[in-house]
Amino acid sequence: MAKPKRPDPMRAELQAALARADFLDGVLDSSYEGIVVVDLDGRVVLINRAYCDFLGKDRRELIGRHVTEVIENTRLHQVAQTGIAEISVVQRIRGQNILGHRLPIRLDGRIIGAMGQLVFQRTEEIKGLVGRLNLLESRIEYYETQLQDIFGARFTLDDVFGRSEGVREAKRVALKAARGNSSVLILGESGVGKEVFAHAIHRVSQRARGPFVKVNCAAIPEQLLESEFFGYEPGAFTGAGKGGKPGKFELAEHGTIFLDEIGDMTPNMQAKLLRVLQEKEIERVGGVRPIPVDVRVISATNRDLKQATADAAFRNDLYYRLNVVSLVVPPLRERPEDIPEIVAKHLTKVCGEMQVPLRRVAPDAMEVFRKYTWPGNTRELLNVVERAVNLAEGEVITVEDLPPVLRAAAGVATPVQLFEGTLAEAVERAEREAVVQALATAGGNKVRAAKRLGVHRSTLYEKMARFGID
Ligand SMILES: Nc1ncnc2c1ncn2[C@@H]1O[C@H](COP(=O)(O)OP(=O)(O)OP(=O)(O)O)[C@@H](O)[C@H]1O
Ligand SMILES: [Mg+2]
Repeated sequence: MAKPKRPDPMRAELQAALARADFLDGVLDSSYEGIVVVDLDGRVVLINRAYCDFLGKDRRELIGRHVTEVIENTRLHQVAQTGIAEISVVQRIRGQNILGHRLPIRLDGRIIGAMGQLVFQRTEEIKGLVGRLNLLESRIEYYETQLQDIFGARFTLDDVFGRSEGVREAKRVALKAARGNSSVLILGESGVGKEVFAHAIHRVSQRARGPFVKVNCAAIPEQLLESEFFGYEPGAFTGAGKGGKPGKFELAEHGTIFLDEIGDMTPNMQAKLLRVLQEKEIERVGGVRPIPVDVRVISATNRDLKQATADAAFRNDLYYRLNVVSLVVPPLRERPEDIPEIVAKHLTKVCGEMQVPLRRVAPDAMEVFRKYTWPGNTRELLNVVERAVNLAEGEVITVEDLPPVLRAAAGVATPVQLFEGTLAEAVERAEREAVVQALATAGGNKVRAAKRLGVHRSTLYEKMARFGID
């Protein structure tokens, strides 16, 4: 056996350097991205396997040549001169548009060359990105429409007006519910503030940073409800969008879904919703695999849902799933002590928005407010206040500034005019008044007004057009 040679330090260093270079080549060759490096003269000093494969050339043919001779439409030699990076640029190579970056390489502050990167995305990645983009687009679209909706400002528990025991109890329940993750069912007549509470619960919960997504179960036709709820896959039905579409449950991921008018849901949809609550996963229409969802459900209705279960109009099992926490918002007529506060707060808001001096309510007008039964609850009160601000001549809102229904209910005389028309005209006049009042009580919401009048929405539109109501 030969005697081991004395280690040569120069040789060891060279070997270490070569090993390092091999290692770096290995790293570069493992990259999915195409990487090429040029020196100050624009000559190729390094090019990785992905780039060589893409060009269909052997590395040995490329090293040492000027970059313009080996890569089309390159500007890498210029970047090596200017030192100015070019990020996310599109370069056309071999008939394809490819996304790339060109970066100067600096050593001790001096530019020594430039690196080009081509980003080759694998198709699965692109598909994933398209899916994520679709989801984001749907979210944005949704928020844009919601912003126009009543949540121009977002509600917290402090925004819930009222200090009556009924409201205080509702707030206590809301706060407790917000801490947990259980489903909440909000019950109460139309206009009491169920949606305000739903939003407030979301806002004080740990999901506050997540989305709050509302679905009005009564406003969406049965055939569309499933795809609204659960989304659909591409090609699920004729007219299904190319990329598919996420449903409201997916949009509400890590947030809260608010199922408004839950009492109007058909048995078929009730069964599907029950499944989601049990399995905590959804299936898109036309989809094959379930998608897990992490969503808190808050639902609301002005119907007697317990009674509906007794009448077999609403599934018992679903009722119990939704009603883990129940929050009851009492009607305004049961808490007249809240009226002055609600009026005062709304006056401040409305007068501020209209940039008029703050109005006061005359004591006898306030008395009318307290005596009225408010079938449209807080919504109606807010509308009456707003209307009165518009009508009031001075700074004080008087009984004259209140709508006839209120005055009549409070026993304040309204001048009666002698009617000289035909019976048909009288009917028409009464009809018109009913439509106007229903719209006012419903805060201008036509779906709600139609419901109140017990007619179809299209009938309401017809009447409005005929009577010239805006
Ligand atoms: N306690 C409250 N504090 C502040 N605003 C309220 C309160 N209650 C109701 N409102 C206002 O009244 C209007 C109606 O409230 P909301 O939409 O929450 O009623 P709802 O109970 O969902 O009625 P519906 O059953 O008709 O959908 C909204 O403009 C809301 O801002
Ligand atoms: Mg509502």
